[in-house]
Amino acid sequence: MNIGFIGAGHMGSAMIKGLLNASFVSPEQLFVKGGSSGTVEALQKELGFQLMQDYQELKDCQIIFIATGAKIVLEVLKEAAPFMAKESILISVATGHTVKEAQAAVGKDIHVVHAIPNTPVSVNEGMIGAAFAEGMPASAKEQALKVLEVLGKVEEVNENLLGTFGTVAGCSPAFVDIFMEALADGAVMEGMPRALAYDVVAQMLLGSAKLAIETQRHPGELKDGVTSPGGSTIKGVAALEKNGFRYAVMDAVKQANS
Ligand SMILES: NC(=O)c1ccc[n+]([C@@H]2O[C@H](COP(=O)([O-])OP(=O)(O)OC[C@H]3O[C@@H](n4cnc5c(N)ncnc54)[C@H](OP(=O)(O)O)[C@@H]3O)[C@@H](O)[C@H]2O)c1
Repeated sequence: MNIGFIGAGHMGSAMIKGLLNASFVSPEQLFVKGGSSGTVEALQKELGFQLMQDYQELKDCQIIFIATGAKIVLEVLKEAAPFMAKESILISVATGHTVKEAQAAVGKDIHVVHAIPNTPVSVNEGMIGAAFAEGMPASAKEQALKVLEVLGKVEEVNENLLGTFGTVAGCSPAFVDIFMEALADGAVMEGMPRALAYDVVAQMLLGSAKLAIETQRHPGELKDGVTSPGGSTIKGVAALEKNGFRYAVMDAVKQANS
């Protein structure tokens, strides 16, 4: 299978790395077109995929990802559409457009998927929301899911939920990164070496997430399991509440989604 990429900035390159990590395709089967800044040429030196100068190679690609900025995506799709093979699958991870708009840009012979991933796709632990064009054949949908599932967990959602999905799954890694940095700063303040603090914090988050996923227990119940009466954890919880932690997080989601 050949896969095409139009745009390989933060998100495009994260998906390319995930696909190569998993050996889902070889670098020879990946055709990537970048913009004008030279980013994609630098990435090509690192990852060895095929560089696309124009859109010619798209005709041999069964799956095409587009990951350009939201403002130009429809214009770029119109430009690339004549080179896309009939029945190929277009997966747009760009924001700011609907499935219908992308479908109108590429024509009815292309199967359109609108997917919103997050950067952990680069290590195959992404969270991806996907909305499929109405009436998309089951075989095309299956093929699209097969490639997306290499990159992480996929939830099929109604398109009108993709925005909030993108905020919670796509923006939150930055919120969590700040949380990790702050926890490590706290540990350093208490005398722990910084490198060790980052290791401890990252593994703690990984373990907490795995526990929540595998047990399917409510987060409040998991929290209750760590807070013994009069113990140190509940004092920490009180300090978080005193400083408006929950509201700060809820407001971050609201502001990012606005
Ligand atoms: N980053 C995330 O976590 C995330 C999550 C979900 C969805 N998204 C969506 O994914 C899209 C890309 O986001 P990003 O963060 O990856 O942005 P980005 O880093 O700015 O990447 C966009 C890339 O598109 C390239 N490009 C521009 N015009 C092009 C063209 N005509 N042909 C091929 N490539 C072209 C740019 O190349 P040059 O710089 O060389 O011009 C740039 O590398 C956006 O629509 C964003 O909303 C991002």
